[in-house]
Amino acid sequence: MSRSPAQRIREATALSAETVRREVIRGGGRGSKSAFLSGKIGAYLTKHSSPPDEVLGDLSALTAALPEAEMQVPAEQGTLLTILTASIAPRRAIEVGTFTGYSALCIARGLPAGGRLLCLDVSDEWTAIARRHWDRAGVSDRIDLVLGPAADSLANLAEEPTFDLAFVDADKVSYQRYYDLLVPRMNPNGVIIVDNVLQYGAVVRPRSENPAVVAVQEFNRLLAADSRVQVVMLPIADGLTIARKLPSPRSGD
Ligand SMILES: C[S@@+](CC[C@H](N)C(=O)[O-])C[C@H]1O[C@@H](n2cnc3c(N)ncnc32)[C@H](O)[C@@H]1O
Repeated sequence: MSRSPAQRIREATALSAETVRREVIRGGGRGSKSAFLSGKIGAYLTKHSSPPDEVLGDLSALTAALPEAEMQVPAEQGTLLTILTASIAPRRAIEVGTFTGYSALCIARGLPAGGRLLCLDVSDEWTAIARRHWDRAGVSDRIDLVLGPAADSLANLAEEPTFDLAFVDADKVSYQRYYDLLVPRMNPNGVIIVDNVLQYGAVVRPRSENPAVVAVQEFNRLLAADSRVQVVMLPIADGLTIARKLPSPRSGD
């Protein structure tokens, strides 16, 4: 049986159940998987946000039957991705880590006319589910899917395209590598969004033996010190970082 966000946070941070209950986090409740919210606040937030439509609902339901279901972004994060995409209006967007296609569908729906989304993943099986739902939602014609290790796919991209929006949600131990490959490809003011940056709270532990936690801690540290970007970290879902590539002082952008 999969563990609730509260259980995962408790295990990750070694906080007592009472501390977790009072101070942080009960798994959102009623559809919200935002981990750092009380159950009541999570339910309130869900009630006052736009609900997913039928295709997203069906995709969530189908994904929920998979043992890896927790990998899918929660509904409110998907809505945020659509809103950000529509605001940024990227000509080119990229997603690293697609799974069954929920976040990609949310991004694709925010694209302007002519905008394209490049999705990178290793799994044929999971992305087959994605493709079916992208078809149903009528967005397949604006998505390119490349299967294979994402670092190789990124390294092998031609000099063009450059991107206005990137969403990083694949294996956490490779976040730094993905970021290093993405930053030079981002246009000035382009935005890199990175998922799971709080690791259910485990990032605040001084020592962790979990390679994903250690990698994300180091990634967060380096990102906060990177003068090429402006960074904000949000407590939505399992923590979301938004990094804006600063225009170069010499570029006149
Ligand atoms: C957390 S899931 C992505 C969830 C997705 N964004 C969503 O909203 O449903 C992570 C995905 O990264 C993919 N992945 C893991 N390691 C990878 C790698 N080295 N290269 C490319 N994809 C990878 C997995 O196959 C999985 O589909």
